[in-house]
Amino acid sequence: MGQEFSAVPETTKPETLSERSLPAVADYIKSGKAKKVAVLTGAGISTAAGIPDFRSPETGLYANLAALELEEPEDVFSLPFFKENPKPFYVLAKDLYPGKFHPTISHVFINLLATKGLLYQLFTQNIDCLERRAGVPADLIVEAHGSFASQRCIDCKMPYPDDKMREHVSRAEVPHCEKCNGLVKPDIVFFHENLPSLFFDRRHMAEEADLVLVLGTSLTVHPFAGLPDLAPVEVPRVLFNMERVGSLGSQPDDVLVLGDCDTGVRQLADALGWREELEAEWRKLVGDEEADRQLKGSTKRQVEDEVSQLVHDVDKVLHVHDVSSGSSSPSPEAATEKQQKETTPTTQQEVQQNGPASVEKSVETTAGTEEVKVTGT
Ligand code: OAD
Repeated sequence: MGQEFSAVPETTKPETLSERSLPAVADYIKSGKAKKVAVLTGAGISTAAGIPDFRSPETGLYANLAALELEEPEDVFSLPFFKENPKPFYVLAKDLYPGKFHPTISHVFINLLATKGLLYQLFTQNIDCLERRAGVPADLIVEAHGSFASQRCIDCKMPYPDDKMREHVSRAEVPHCEKCNGLVKPDIVFFHENLPSLFFDRRHMAEEADLVLVLGTSLTVHPFAGLPDLAPVEVPRVLFNMERVGSLGSQPDDVLVLGDCDTGVRQLADALGWREELEAEWRKLVGDEEADRQLKGSTKRQVEDEVSQLVHDVDKVLHVHDVSSGSSSPSPEAATEKQQKETTPTTQQEVQQNGPASVEKSVETTAGTEEVKVTGT
């Protein structure tokens, strides 16, 4: 069994759990007291599937795009930049488009919670649709940053046909509106765009949950990053992540499971007596070959290859744009937007005070803490 630790002093007793550990979380679930489990996920739950996350120092998309002639790597997901030059986004979309990746055991664990009637709501920041592929019912999912499932013109908002979108994305070509010739963009949320109304309609469910599981997210993008803080202090929160993030680990019933989330999830499944069922469901869904590939960790190499290919391709289109337009620097509109971006509230407190409506990144850092990694499976 791996180890789970909290940053609160050992003398501070948990209010709800018998102790700050995964077996205690499992006992809490088995006792029937956790009837409403809220799950909050980010890119880290899909890295084992071969999809790069955004901010990991070596394999993250932004870390690698930082080497290019972009003012900020996040620009690829900003509307002003997209209006100026949509091609880099479509280069990324070609490789990240749902279809070629398979769910991880963490995705399947979330579905297991759903089949056992325990999943209250899943809030995901991911656009890879892997939770749906794992079987999680659509009405239990809030895709907080949208998804590739639909697309529309950014000017007249007319929806664009799925089959034509798929064709364009497969060739990394930019689709244009059939009515007004405007640019077409998938309904994924770019920086400074509003989140889907469903996020705001269901946000209260993170407050009503009796257990909050946070997996694979750096909690740097608001308002999503504020969700774990909606839970009352006595509600256990469990973090499955490579590193400590947000305020996780600061409350008496917080359990930090630091390390890769698939390992942590397997440990929780063991403690619950669900492990066999979980592994069987996962293998049935993805097949033995893919399961073995993920288990061997060969996807790490794939992520490295994927990200270096992506960066190479984006670099190429940035330079094409450079030649055709005479410049790759942002338009005046984009520059103004960027300036606004830098001056918009970025701390969690400020965002909460000002009532967030759109995606903002935060530059919060976590306080020093005792960190212990999960080990083995
Ligand atoms: P990030 O890349 O910011 O964070 C991923 C987190 O998962 C990091 O803390 C990693 O250490 C951790 N991680 C990576 N692999 C892991 C693994 N196998 N097991 C456990 N932890 C792992 O991704 P997000 O938090 O999802 O938004 O990013 C949030 C948003 O930023 C995205 O939705 C996207 C991006 O800009 C938009 O595009 C609007």
